[in-house]
Parts: sequence; C-alpha cells; structure tokens
Amino acid sequence: MGQPETLSRQLADAQHTEAVGGWLADRLAPFAEPLLLGLTGPLGAGKTTLARGLLRALGVGGRIKSPTYTLIEPYETMAGPVHHLDLYRLAEPGELEFLGLPDFLEEPGLVLVEWPEKAPLLMKRLNYLVALDYSGEQRTMSITGSGKAATRMLASLPTSFSDQSGPLSR
Ligand SMILES: Nc1ncnc2c1ncn2[C@@H]1O[C@H](COP(=O)(O)OP(=O)(O)O)[C@@H](O)[C@H]1O
Ligand SMILES: [Mg+2]
Repeated sequence: MGQPETLSRQLADAQHTEAVGGWLADRLAPFAEPLLLGLTGPLGAGKTTLARGLLRALGVGGRIKSPTYTLIEPYETMAGPVHHLDLYRLAEPGELEFLGLPDFLEEPGLVLVEWPEKAPLLMKRLNYLVALDYSGEQRTMSITGSGKAATRMLASLPTSFSDQSGPLSR
C-alpha cells in the first residue's frame, strides 16, 4: 500500500452528489473482491444522496431508503451484492455482528458505510473514504484511497461534477 491520496471537488447541488456516486459505480463495478467504502460528514452532508446515485447507476430501481433505522439495506445489483449501512444509531461496535457484517466483508461485493467512525475496526479496513462536508451553501467532497487501483481511479476523477454533459449524463 502506498501513501493515501486525496482529491477534493465542489458539489453544486444534490444531482452532482448523485453523479459522484454514479462515477464511483462506473469505476468500481463489477465487484471481484470485497470493497469497503466509507462515507463521512455531518448530518445532511449528502452521504445517502451519494449512495443513492451509486445504487441507481448499478440498476437499482424503486425507492432507495436511507438505512437510518434498519442500519443496513442489502441490494443485489448487476455488479454484485451491495450492502448500504448507516451506523449513526449503532450503540456499540459489537452490534455489527448482528448485522452479519463479518460475513459479507469477506465476500466479493461493495459495502457502503455511512458513519464508519462508529466502528473503528471497519474504519481501519476502508478501501476508500469519501468525506462530504458543507460550510454555508458550499458543499464539498474529497475521496481518499491508497494503492495502485485507487491511484488509477483518482487520476480519472472529473475536474468538475457540475458539468452534466459527457459520460456522466444518464
Ligand atoms: N451538493 C449538494 N448541494 C445541495 N444539497 C445537497 C447536495 N447533496 C445533497 N444535498 C441534499 O442534502 C440533503 C441531505 O442529504 P443526505 O444525503 O440525506 O445527507 P446525509 O446522508 O449525509 O445525512 C438532501 O436533501 C439532499 O438532497
Ligand atoms: Mg444519511
């Protein structure tokens, strides 16, 4: 593993946050190994919006609920299984076992985790971290990853997600 690299972008509105999810889906699918992607940032920063964009890009239809109360929502997608977790309400890290977490972390598939800080062991195993934030009206995201695949992926990050023309338009 090399040094982690981080790239940041501004996100003009919710559609752009979803577009980041779509871009990630394009880069990460199909899932040949277990992939753990953390989504951090304060309440309302856009974590679930990004997860939704990612799931939609993988062909998930219908309403995509936030796992706020269920803590976990599983999906079968065309790229493989995706588990979407929101650990905001996790009382203690030991609870993760009841969610079946140790199992699906060993299987090829994507695990999207909002509030990964709630589970330090998970935090250590993240392949990618997407940090969302806002100050006033300004929304930002930064993506961190390390290793060859991450470096290659980050090199292809669009300079702006504000431009909806081009490969990101769906
Ligand atoms: N880049 C953005 N600019 C403005 N609003 C956004 C942006 N991204 C998401 N939102 C909006 O912010 C609100 C909270 O988003 P959500 O994804 O539920 O946050 P979180 O999961 O981090 O708590 C939603 O109404 C969403 O549409
Ligand atoms: Mg959320």
